Amino acid sequence: MSANRPAAVVVLAAGEGTRMKSATPKVLHSICGRSLVGHVVAAARELDPEHLVVVVGHAREQVAAHLGETDPGVRTAVQHEQNGTGHAVRMALEELGGGVDGTVVVVCGDTPLLTGETLRGLSRTHAEDGNAVTVLTAEVPDATGYGRIVRDVGGAVTAIVEHKDATETQRAIREINSGVFAFDGRLLADALGKLRTDNSQGEEYLTDVLGILREAGHRVGASVGPDHREILGINNRVQLAQARRLLNDRLLERAMLDGVTVIDPASTWIDVEVTFEPDALVHPGTQLLGTTHVAAGAEVGPNTRLKDTTVGAGARVDNSVADSAVVGDSASVGPYAYLRPGTRLGAKSKAGTYVEMKNAEIGEGTKVPHLSYVGDATIGDYSNIGAASVFVNYDGVAKHHTTVGSHCRTGSDNMFVAPVTVGDGAYTAAGSVITKDVPPGSLAVARGQQRNIDGWVARKRPGSAAARAAEAAVDKGVTEN
Ligand code: UD1
Ligand code: CA
Repeated sequence: MSANRPAAVVVLAAGEGTRMKSATPKVLHSICGRSLVGHVVAAARELDPEHLVVVVGHAREQVAAHLGETDPGVRTAVQHEQNGTGHAVRMALEELGGGVDGTVVVVCGDTPLLTGETLRGLSRTHAEDGNAVTVLTAEVPDATGYGRIVRDVGGAVTAIVEHKDATETQRAIREINSGVFAFDGRLLADALGKLRTDNSQGEEYLTDVLGILREAGHRVGASVGPDHREILGINNRVQLAQARRLLNDRLLERAMLDGVTVIDPASTWIDVEVTFEPDALVHPGTQLLGTTHVAAGAEVGPNTRLKDTTVGAGARVDNSVADSAVVGDSASVGPYAYLRPGTRLGAKSKAGTYVEMKNAEIGEGTKVPHLSYVGDATIGDYSNIGAASVFVNYDGVAKHHTTVGSHCRTGSDNMFVAPVTVGDGAYTAAGSVITKDVPPGSLAVARGQQRNIDGWVARKRPGSAAARAAEAAVDKGVTEN
């Protein structure tokens, strides 16, 4: 456990985020498979705080419900009116019974790139320097909109001045307030009681706590963050896309350093919970989502989207889409396959071109190579399903199951009308509609008998190209087969 374990982390997420122009609350927008507030909560969790409080206000039921699903250990504090960041922290401390002993870390709910490592660094500096408050700062190329860090001639932080309240000289400062702080819990509670609203926004500014504590003779410190991009706050969809790009790059970089080949990082998108084994290879245009796992030596892409899907060692998934599927070792998927939830492909099996599967268990070495739908089915080992076959699982009311055994050879263009079973080692004839069980080792033929009507074209289509071709063939002696 961390020596600098904070008593509480407070996440500010009550604002509306009007600039997103969205029906979805800002902090519930997501990048790389996790909501903005979810990323912040995950980083906060790395500090192992005794309490984790998220301040909710705008759309609070929706935000609270989301937090309940993603991290049930989170407590929420309600801020009915958004009267400023200081007021929001006051609401959080009220939720904790008025204040806590120990360190309180405050972060904003709209900075998804913030890492646990940076938060740990801030906590460490705060503890080592014995500060009453330590603010995480960053040097940014464009400080517009941010609170500026004002230092005295000796370099000590004296105040944070909001952009709207800053003088021209202060606006030239490029060191900004990231919105992340570590406070002494008791001193914070006292200072919050002294906040005033005589500023340009008429709000209780959390940033004013610095000046208050300094004037009372307490130590105020700053910790300069490692990379200003980490504290990027999301206010609009342009920044949302920038943050997604940055986080995606970070995730891909980690994967590549761990031995994954990513042919084109620019067109490869992965979620935070995606995992790889060394020597996995990702082709361009690939999205790996949710809890997807790509094992050693497997190749995925190009142009592939896999969600919550496991790709086994040495498997190949090409130009395909899969959701909640398991692809066995050395199995082959695509090009142009669609694996829906519950698909489990055995080792060395194949779901080929224009093949859709759902809730289907495919045995080792079994192949479904072309143009087929396999739904609600179990197929044994080393069977082959002919091209253009359909597992007819739906009678308009309920879904039914089809079982095909091992070492079967089913013909092309078969309909398996479920519920039905094809026994081990059985064959079915091309074009069959299988409605009755096929015993092991039988050949099932279930189609109309062929009837040839001699001379039909000559009688019904006289003088046509077909008639002339037929006549020429007869002249050459190609009469019958
Ligand atoms: C704030 C800081 C500024 C800093 C910037 C960093 C203050 C006064 N200003 O400005 O110094 O440079 O963050 O991004 O603190 N929130 C609430 N309740 C409120 C107001 C805000 O929960 O009453 C939440 C918002 O949902 C958001 C966060 O606090 O998650 C920051 O609020 P925002 O309005 O974006 O602050 P800035 O003006 O960006
Ligand atoms: Ca504001």
